[in-house]
Amino acid sequence: MDLDKKNIVLIGMMGSGKSTIGYLLSKTIDLKFIDIDKTIEKETSLKIHNIFEKKGEAYFRNLEEKITLKFLKSKRKIISLGGGGFLNKNIRKETLINNVSFWLNWKSKTIIKRIYKSKKRPLAFDVSENDLKKIIIERSKTYSEANFKINCESLTKNMIVNQIKSIYEKN
Ligand code: S3P
Repeated sequence: MDLDKKNIVLIGMMGSGKSTIGYLLSKTIDLKFIDIDKTIEKETSLKIHNIFEKKGEAYFRNLEEKITLKFLKSKRKIISLGGGGFLNKNIRKETLINNVSFWLNWKSKTIIKRIYKSKKRPLAFDVSENDLKKIIIERSKTYSEANFKINCESLTKNMIVNQIKSIYEKN
């Protein structure tokens, strides 16, 4: 077993499938799957939207940074970041040091539809479609710093997984 295998880091907007793809990838590659949001929920015994409500966003972002950096410094993991994770300078810097990162990119329209369907995303509770679009465009500039961009729009989940796997194995 190669103990030095780099982490795979999945980046992208809320609703881009980071958790689903990370889980599916972990079934095909011998790396442990870490979902940062789920880890934060476990550690605090609170759902993400409750953390935002009860403790505020700053508290969440602090915890997100601490937990994410810890995993980024380890090896042999598939790490799905929260949608805001890669916007944090320290997380971004560490991600780009010794990990292989993938941005799961979709059309804004697709992401917006998915965000509105989900009730669990505090940052999107009261945001208009137009503002969400602006957020997506703004964040995409930063997401594009990931090592690789996967255009997911016309791909099945399995195709996304296979693309990531094949790129990872060459790196
Ligand atoms: C956030 C995305 C969420 C979660 C939190 C903040 C963001 O993660 O970390 O609600 O800033 O985009 P998902 O991308 O898994 O929904």
